[in-house]
Amino acid sequence: MFFNAKSVSLLLALCIGGITSAFLSLIPDVSITGVIVGLVIAFSSSFLLTYFILEFIFFKEVGNIHRQIHELRSNQSATFDVSNELVKSSKNPISGIKSQIRDYAEMKEEEIAQLKKMERYRKEFLANISHELKTPIFATQGFILTLLDGAVNDKTVRDRFLKKAAKSLNALNILVEDLLTVSKIEAGEISMDFEVFDIQIMIVDVLEQVEQKAEKKNITVSLEVPNDDPIYVNADYNRLKQVVINLVVNGIKYNEKGGWVNVILQVHDNLVTLMVKDNGMGIPLEDQNRIFERFYRVEKSRTKKQGGSGLGLAICKHILEQHNTSITLQSEAEVGSTFSFDLNLVQDTEYENSEF
Ligand SMILES: Nc1ncnc2c1ncn2[C@@H]1O[C@H](COP(=O)(O)OP(=O)(O)OP(=O)(O)O)[C@@H](O)[C@H]1O
Ligand SMILES: [Mg+2]
Repeated sequence: MFFNAKSVSLLLALCIGGITSAFLSLIPDVSITGVIVGLVIAFSSSFLLTYFILEFIFFKEVGNIHRQIHELRSNQSATFDVSNELVKSSKNPISGIKSQIRDYAEMKEEEIAQLKKMERYRKEFLANISHELKTPIFATQGFILTLLDGAVNDKTVRDRFLKKAAKSLNALNILVEDLLTVSKIEAGEISMDFEVFDIQIMIVDVLEQVEQKAEKKNITVSLEVPNDDPIYVNADYNRLKQVVINLVVNGIKYNEKGGWVNVILQVHDNLVTLMVKDNGMGIPLEDQNRIFERFYRVEKSRTKKQGGSGLGLAICKHILEQHNTSITLQSEAEVGSTFSFDLNLVQDTEYENSEF
């Protein structure tokens, strides 16, 4: 049934006109003409009155409410398409309003849930930062206070404490730099500096850099490549190196003495897969989804002594996202872990005459 001013008025006017003429026809003194005149007057006056009330008071107000909801929503969503005309022509404006309000409430509910999630995330993040900053600051403070309390007069103690204070400040510096990197990448402030290079050269560079760390723990770090041919990729050299360093260093840090870390390159049709494999302590299944979150560590006490801030993998994930790829993890506790990602290959022919 059409629920608009005209049809409702017509229906009501017909009823009133019908009832009036029925009553008039019961009065013996009233002629047929009188009944017809009564019918016309009752019909037209009730039609006009009802139409006026509905059109100018009821439907106008309903239209206003619709328009207000529309304005509210269209401030946030460009996809809203209900106009006053639509309200007038809709079969039932009340149910139209109802569905508008329901949609609007659902939209708001989603927004509130999102805001609550972000608020939780922000609180957690703030708590984590404060905790991470507190550790090196308290340590440095402790060393300096001990020196001020008299230890400064003993040369060997003084040197030892100053070195420890410097180490804590260094950790603080690394943490702040990592934090800045994460927030800059997340805010889109860091743009990647893409260039074409042989990924093997970059990995050799990484291996040289981690050599000392590996030696200290008696861990063998090796590279496995398909052949001697160069493997060209288009990436940000330094950022990609940062990713591989973190993966290899993790393989060393979360490993027992005498373990191994293997960097493997596999070439497919137009992709190269880089894998960092270790036989370390592995990551339990329940932690595997979360280790890419900022500050997440598998087991706080186990990893705390390794000195990491828990930002490394979050940075890796962001950097790889900027390279249109993603990192995958296969791991088993007490067996080892394999982190891997793919990169598009740049065909040799395009670069065989270049400086590479
Ligand atoms: N190869 C691995 N083997 C076992 N556990 C790992 C490995 N790599 C990462 N993890 C776990 O994942 C956590 C997060 O790693 P991530 O690299 O983000 O932080 P981190 O190494 O603790 O600190 P950072 O990299 O900032 O110095 C680590 O604390 C560790 O518990
Ligand atoms: Mg790390």
